[in-house]
Amino acid sequence: MTEMALQTARHLLVRLGHRSWLNARLAQARSLAAIPAPPLPSCLNMHARTLSSAKDIGQRENMEMSQPHPKLPTITVASVSPNPSTAMLHVYWGEGGMDEFPYVWLRDNCQCSKCFHPTAFSRLMLVDTLQLSVSPTTLQVTDGGDVEIQWSDGHQSTYPACWLQERSFKPTQQLQHEQVFRLKRSFWGSELAENLPRASFTELMEEDMALLKFLQQLEILGFTVVTEAPRKIGQLESLSKRVGYLDRTHYGETFIVESKPQPSNVAYTSDSINLHSDLTYNYQKPSIQLLHCIKQFPGKGGDNMLSDSLQAAQRFRSLHPDKFLTLANTMVEFWDKGKDNEKEFHIINRHPIISLDPTDDILTVNFHHMSRHSFFNVSVEKVIPWYDAMLTLYDFLLDSKNCLHYKLKEGEILVVDNMRVLHGRIGYKTIQGERLLEGGYWDWTNVSSMRRILDAKLGVTYD
Ligand code: OGA
Ligand code: ZN
Ligand code: ZN
Repeated sequence: MTEMALQTARHLLVRLGHRSWLNARLAQARSLAAIPAPPLPSCLNMHARTLSSAKDIGQRENMEMSQPHPKLPTITVASVSPNPSTAMLHVYWGEGGMDEFPYVWLRDNCQCSKCFHPTAFSRLMLVDTLQLSVSPTTLQVTDGGDVEIQWSDGHQSTYPACWLQERSFKPTQQLQHEQVFRLKRSFWGSELAENLPRASFTELMEEDMALLKFLQQLEILGFTVVTEAPRKIGQLESLSKRVGYLDRTHYGETFIVESKPQPSNVAYTSDSINLHSDLTYNYQKPSIQLLHCIKQFPGKGGDNMLSDSLQAAQRFRSLHPDKFLTLANTMVEFWDKGKDNEKEFHIINRHPIISLDPTDDILTVNFHHMSRHSFFNVSVEKVIPWYDAMLTLYDFLLDSKNCLHYKLKEGEILVVDNMRVLHGRIGYKTIQGERLLEGGYWDWTNVSSMRRILDAKLGVTYD
């Protein structure tokens, strides 16, 4: 479904009285931050997808949402036919069109209370009872347009038409689910410094709509600046309670970033730090970083750089495919040694600078020049080409097409997707203590979960 059609459908739902004030505010927030609308509620999506013509939309403009209107199209199955040669069921929709569903997938996903737990949202049927060769013995479309199947293993299942259509294997439907999984990213460069994504601390603490917009921004742009937080320690803890949990590391649940004597981390100096992703030496680095600026250095320096490393790595890949592969295929050792929180640590882990997923998409850029170990576990002839590739990538990371500078104001909290956006610092001249940040981490597990929960609570539901 196109963005325009989604907007039109959303507009229609607003007209229908579907949580109109919330949707209007979301639309307003989105136009301010150039954020695309998330998908509509699943079953409403089904309706929305049918609103393809102006005539259709005109017909429904006067409907009341409070009572289901008989004219609102419901998803129905018109007929089904088995296809033994492909082991798939052909489902013909009341509204036209056909989808194929593999028998084994249908049996695996029976939603009856014996096969699926309704409050644990989890399969109950054990995997060893699933037969690859399972097939329907009797098929029926109910009066309501749902599908009933009697299976060769003796079980009986009913599949609501709407449930089935949402799970269509067609690319259009699969694409729609992508937005439930993860909002589509929007890449940026230095121009975004003029129009930084921002969120008010007070609003985040009090309003779910503000929290949702903030979480959407973080997913789409990879960072946000929270404004006007109280200038004292403890605000990350409060904000974290709205979102999920702080992610504890060997630096503590939160940590103080300031110039300290005998620092346990290079961030605890006033020196410049290159663009980096935090804690690349961990087995799994934390996925979101928070830096609350409590005291900023008043003189020159103390600014942060932010780089959209996924965009930079994509550009690097298209212009230097061989160097890209060098960085994707070479494991690099990262380490962290020292003592903090009264505990010693000696951490070593290996990651490539560019991590790819099995489909060759870029998962994350593990760049941390400061924490790269001097031990390099490669054959010697690979060393210089690797440095060549790494230094070329750094030029892309620093390029203004992918990178911006911003000096945090006191009371602002920088929230950064540590899987995507690298951060760095311009050094400042101080002996000790003139700049103070509180840092912490979150995990995308909880953060994107909260985005889906708020989507549902505020009128956008998924299942
Ligand atoms: C950090 C860090 C940057 C700063 O603590 O990980 O990179 O601005 N700090 O001090
Ligand atoms: Zn069942
Ligand atoms: Zn850092």
